[in-house]
Amino acid sequence: MTPPLHVRDHAGVRAVLADPRFAVPAVPEDPRPVGGLGWLRRTTVRFSEGADHDRRRAVVEGLLSRLDPADLRASARTRAREVPAEAAPYVPVEVLAVGLGVLPGSLAPIVPATRTVAAVYLAGAPADATAPADNAVGTLVALLPGGDPEEVAQRVALLVQSCEGTAGLIRGALAMVDESGLSGPGLPATEVLVAEALRLTSPVPGTRRRALPGAVLAGRPVAEGTEVVLDFAAANRDPTVFPDPDRPALDDPTPGHLTFGHGRRPCPASASATALACGVLDALLEG
Ligand code: HEM
Repeated sequence: MTPPLHVRDHAGVRAVLADPRFAVPAVPEDPRPVGGLGWLRRTTVRFSEGADHDRRRAVVEGLLSRLDPADLRASARTRAREVPAEAAPYVPVEVLAVGLGVLPGSLAPIVPATRTVAAVYLAGAPADATAPADNAVGTLVALLPGGDPEEVAQRVALLVQSCEGTAGLIRGALAMVDESGLSGPGLPATEVLVAEALRLTSPVPGTRRRALPGAVLAGRPVAEGTEVVLDFAAANRDPTVFPDPDRPALDDPTPGHLTFGHGRRPCPASASATALACGVLDALLEG
């Protein structure tokens, strides 16, 4: 079997993400019924290609277009003041759930169920450990509005995709503040902290593709079926793009991080994710 190809440079990661000859990894066959983890993975935008991807991506963009980033930020800030500090990184999941139609009185199971699914959504669950994730998908389906199963799956996917990335961003920004030694009025604006935390703490550290026939990278053919591992964390410190790659530029963030992906299918929710993280951080840092 061909060994995986690791891509760590900024230009290489961008080239793969822009090239349709590198596809998202296929989801293994899973005969489990509607409402389980297998159904979720084979129905969501994240693992689709071609016409399925275009259709599902349009559903996701439609759902996201109804969420105003300023409202998300304000709601996240309010909610983060109400919960214990350790729950704050998961406030974005609750705020999104309400935005996607979960009744505020039904929020209690949302974060545990979303985290259970998120833990296995990208990697897949081992065969003997699918029941908790299947049940958690069922919980989310039951609490979100019903309707066309493909649309229901995209709502669940939005919660799942939002979960650990946004929580990691909040934790990363807080760690950066700690390390900077800055506090109170000395702190930069929350947006600046978030921008640099996206680059330097890479809360989504990478992604994967598989090479299709004819795939080429930097002029070299890549054998069909090769797994391509894209390292965002390394690319975000590529010295050819970021002149002082390891230093947080809190006075003037350097644009160009790849933490929200790039090319054919970047994160459709970068504005929502940033607004939600800013809202939580507004509340935590003012405290
Ligand atoms: C800091 C938080 C987040 C980060 C760093 C992040 C990052 C990413 C990245 C890198 C991808 C592309 C993966 C790939 O190319 O293989 C992606 C895809 C996606 N993200 Fe995010 N994301 C975040 C938050 C969110 C949130 C809050 C949502 C939903 C509200 C979301 C929804 C999605 C969806 C649906 C996709 C799949 C898009 C597609 O395949 O067409 N993400 N995200």
